[in-house]
Amino acid sequence: MKNKKSPRAALDMDEEEFRQVGHHLIDKIADFLGNISQRNVHKPGAAEIAHKILGVAPLPDTGSSNENVVEEISDLLLEQSLFNGHPRFWGYVNGSPSPLGALGDLLASSINANVCTWTVAPVASEIESQAVGWIGDLLNFPNDPECNSGGLLVSGGTMANITGLLAAKRARFGAKIREQGNNYKGAENSKFYATAETHAWLEKALDIMGFGESAIHRISTDENLRMDVNALQEAINNDLKQGFIPLAVIASAGTVSTGAIDPLEQISEICTQHKIWFHIDGAYGAVSACVPSISEQLSGIGLADSIAMDAHKWLYVPFEAGCILLRDRQHLVDSFSHETTYYPTKNSGETLPIPYRDQGIQTSRGFRALKVWMCLKRAGRDGYAEMIGNNIRQAERLYKKVAEYPELEAVSHGLSITTFRYRPAEVQNDKFLNQLNQKILSSLQEEAWAYPSHAWVNGKYLIRVCITNFRTTDQDIDELPEKVLSIAHKYLQ
Ligand SMILES: Cc1ncc(COP(=O)(O)O)c(C=O)c1O
Repeated sequence: MKNKKSPRAALDMDEEEFRQVGHHLIDKIADFLGNISQRNVHKPGAAEIAHKILGVAPLPDTGSSNENVVEEISDLLLEQSLFNGHPRFWGYVNGSPSPLGALGDLLASSINANVCTWTVAPVASEIESQAVGWIGDLLNFPNDPECNSGGLLVSGGTMANITGLLAAKRARFGAKIREQGNNYKGAENSKFYATAETHAWLEKALDIMGFGESAIHRISTDENLRMDVNALQEAINNDLKQGFIPLAVIASAGTVSTGAIDPLEQISEICTQHKIWFHIDGAYGAVSACVPSISEQLSGIGLADSIAMDAHKWLYVPFEAGCILLRDRQHLVDSFSHETTYYPTKNSGETLPIPYRDQGIQTSRGFRALKVWMCLKRAGRDGYAEMIGNNIRQAERLYKKVAEYPELEAVSHGLSITTFRYRPAEVQNDKFLNQLNQKILSSLQEEAWAYPSHAWVNGKYLIRVCITNFRTTDQDIDELPEKVLSIAHKYLQ
């Protein structure tokens, strides 16, 4: 009897077909990368087009061929997306994605490691461990076995920060808080100290953690939007008198609007004095610790109990990849480990490290570590110092360039963020200027030559350029002020 071949499952692909479809896709991506500088940053109206094409289509009853699926969706994506890898994409804090990182994603998905335990994902777990250690090295975070520092990768800065605060809560109140919740030991009276410049992940975190947003004690800032340490000291003293529990101070190593760095060492001293958890949100700026001109300002990173950083921002790793590091990673285990009947409680031989599922919120975990590891391996400390240092220099260059134009007001420069606005001498009214600059930014984005975003600073609406982009050239920077002026003049003729 002849062996009858069973029909291939719809989602299976034979080797040859994978090769063909895959090569074709890689060719298309290579073409896209090859001419990204000549394109516009996005296609105005793309959101409406995408919605029209995809938004209402029902699930097909019958499937399509692999070629058709890849062709249809890659065309749409490569035409209608907003390209944060474009040299003049300077919005929000999106890193330009490294092509090597994209290949890392392909390899990671092909292996499909579930990085929950060392036995389930032996190589992948080791790669994550090494990547996390290397991130610590880049940040100059303590990395000796004595202090048991360490952490894990998470989806992004928001999750990294939330994970840090959960560890802070567990560290403060002990194991029972996990059983009894925020009623335990008056935990509901906890306070968290941060400035108004702190990213909105904090509100989300305290809502999720059951403390509510009212647990935030906002600390005033100095003229450079850095935390005022005297105001912090005073706030803690007052809260203690009133019976509140100061649980954590959240400092920023690079605020989202202007790149301000809070005085980390002074904040750390206050935390030590009052035995308060010192958390740093370094989602954007912490990696600039590898740049010699910035490292001193960030030397306080080594004093933090926990620090959140984002590889998908200034490490130029494709989304998603954030990282939480703890001075003592046992707090993660204390916060997140659970014994179950359906997972082995111990690693085989008990010689392997603690599983990642016992150190964070997720159980099944993707292999995001691979792209992070590959980028770190490729660039090394020197490569990152050069790329990040270059972005900082370019932001400073823009600040100086803008200051040369009497009609433009250069407002701030911090790390790789510069803010400015159009302000001709004859217009003094801030309300009018805010509206005008909103229109200018909208037009600039609509023209799609460049894509900055905005910031509100002291009631002023500003054009904000955040350069976390290894493709940006000095010429790109130099041309921006004239572009802004040509739009502004159309509005004010
Ligand atoms: C300073 C800072 N913290 C936290 C976040 C949130 O990070 P994510 O968007 O990766 O969750 C951002 C995002 O821009 C940020 O700039």
